[in-house]
Amino acid sequence: MILHHENHSLKDLHTFGLDVKARYYLVYHNEEELKELLNGTLIRQHSLLLMGGGSNLLFLKDYDGVVLHSAIDGIQVAEEDNEQVLLKVGAGVEWDALVAWSVEKGYGGIENLSYIPGDVGAAPVQNIGAYGVEFQDVFVRAEGYFVDSALPFSLNKKECAFGYRDSIFKKELKGKVVVTQVWIRLSKQPRFLLDYGPVRSAVEDLGSINLHNIRKVIVAIRCSKLPDPKEAGNAGSFFKNPVVPLAFFQQLQAIHPDVPHYELAGGMEIKIPAGWLIEQAGWKGRQVGRAAVHQKQALVLVNLGGATGKEIYALAESIQRDVQQKYGILLEPEVNVLA
Ligand code: EPU
Repeated sequence: MILHHENHSLKDLHTFGLDVKARYYLVYHNEEELKELLNGTLIRQHSLLLMGGGSNLLFLKDYDGVVLHSAIDGIQVAEEDNEQVLLKVGAGVEWDALVAWSVEKGYGGIENLSYIPGDVGAAPVQNIGAYGVEFQDVFVRAEGYFVDSALPFSLNKKECAFGYRDSIFKKELKGKVVVTQVWIRLSKQPRFLLDYGPVRSAVEDLGSINLHNIRKVIVAIRCSKLPDPKEAGNAGSFFKNPVVPLAFFQQLQAIHPDVPHYELAGGMEIKIPAGWLIEQAGWKGRQVGRAAVHQKQALVLVNLGGATGKEIYALAESIQRDVQQKYGILLEPEVNVLA
């Protein structure tokens, strides 16, 4: 049955823990319920926000429209052979429950994406990534419905136009479709990716390289750096890591020889950790009102308790201005800011 709430508090439904309300909060459990909602008047007459686990949103005020949440459940094995397995996963499944399930079954490919908050439906939108793996590496197709017509769509990997924390769902299709099912391919003979930071040595310290140990290490690394939203509201990385042309990077490196960096596009572009820029600019651990820059990872902004979205955004803007002045780089928010 569709759940329908009015003037509904979103405080416990998104990870920044802000005290905001949605004019309408609707939850559907299957495709039929979704189609009924898309064909109804509420969604047609109001602005629409799709919200999964709410782990990448910053509300600057109450949401004067419809917040739509998928509770479509289910992890199904659609096809399998000796090497691979094709899974069809409901958009409402919690992402980390899928990772835990896959590791338990011995299916590899998403273990490095352990402990990322949020639901499966948001994974292709954001092309979630961590420790050398991106969601697009396992993605096969996304299915769902157009908001305007309530007609179904199916998009393959190429059509999703994935990029770094980017996809067609954040661009041309933003607000136009609802993802209901995600298909991914995992491997029964996984190739482990351990070359990000301390991952390999930490896994080796546990005795053997296997899915369980990789998951254990990734969870431990994330817990050591990223605040638990239940203790301090946050949305993970607040900004994207900026990508700059090689010539620009070389100028920066001449002044700051220790700047960490990763080569992209065959070395013509360089990704710089925003956390490093923010820390060097002196913001790590700084508190402004009830908003703060996390002490262990400068890329994360936290709600110390009772902050407003505007307070957090004001802090983000101060950081943006300062980093731009000091380094000539404009940091772009990674979270979806709802003004
Ligand atoms: N660094 C600092 N100071 C800081 C934080 C980072 O100097 O306060 C420098 C360090 O040199 C460190 C480097 O930045 O070696 C990279 O830091 P880290 O490994 O923590 O990763 P990140 O680049 O800050 C990205 C993702 C994270 C993801 C990690 C691990 C983005 C925007 N963020 O962070 O994703 O978990 O890599 O792969 O790409 C998220 O998207 O919400 C998220 C948490």
